[in-house]
Amino acid sequence: MKEVYLNGDFLPADQAKVSVFDRGFLLGDGVYEVVPVYDGHSFQLLGHLERLQASLDGVRMKNPLSIAEWQVMVEQLVERNGSGNQSLYLQVTRGVAPREHVFPQGVTPTIFAMSNPLAPIKQEYKHNGIAAITLTDIRWQNCHIKAISLLPNSLLKQQAQEAGAQEALLIRDGYLTEGAASNAYVVIDGTIYTSPKDKKVLPGITREVVIVLAEKAGIPLIEQAVTLEQLKQANEVWMSSSTKEVLPITLLDGERVGKGIPGPVWQKIDALYQNYKEDIAAWH
Ligand code: PDD
Repeated sequence: MKEVYLNGDFLPADQAKVSVFDRGFLLGDGVYEVVPVYDGHSFQLLGHLERLQASLDGVRMKNPLSIAEWQVMVEQLVERNGSGNQSLYLQVTRGVAPREHVFPQGVTPTIFAMSNPLAPIKQEYKHNGIAAITLTDIRWQNCHIKAISLLPNSLLKQQAQEAGAQEALLIRDGYLTEGAASNAYVVIDGTIYTSPKDKKVLPGITREVVIVLAEKAGIPLIEQAVTLEQLKQANEVWMSSSTKEVLPITLLDGERVGKGIPGPVWQKIDALYQNYKEDIAAWH
């Protein structure tokens, strides 16, 4: 039986229970992280824990654990779930209190963590690319906070799936922000463009790795949002996330992106990304 972590204890998943008065359940009042685990080792954990802290600050919650406590808990949870490749999920909600919008005083946050097998990336996606559609970014104005209230993202993803696409690329005021569950990149004349770190996008941990790899390889990358028109005329379009790595988008709104096959700049970045993962694995 899968084990999860809840408020200091490891227990079988079916025995983990949270109150119906938890503000995560009633108000979506909480933040989360998703961390990939390769061969029993969490990838970029510190970056994820720093972003968790930023999300907690963003919703005015205290971090219930220190970085070291998070690290120990994560290590134990991964081990208890058989190591290998996992998708680790961490969540903190404001806690249990009578339902009211205003923050309750003196409540204990609910800390929950689980880890599931990490689905391998479909080779077909890497060979042929994926399909995406553009949709209006209907989310709130604090998308830099990784909040558990994902109803807009869920509606957008669902719409993409019903259109036969794997991701929705979001447009706000005429500019591409990011994907419904990923960061987005556009290649125009050999230069990579990705939205800057502001309140319109989540500061992706994978995005950070891509930026460093591009810089090291001397591939020009500009943190600047592109317009819908630029997106439509781009040579390459990609998305990235912790669970999907970096994937090429070769069909956008039913039209081919560039030649309709994964482009050379993506090939290069993906190769560097795979090398980076291998280098890290070699250190363990
Ligand atoms: N989502 N932007 C959004 C809106 C996201 O939900 C995600 C990831 C990203 C990519 O961030 P990172 O590289 O740190 O995973 C960008 C996770 C995987 C999820 O919600 O399941």
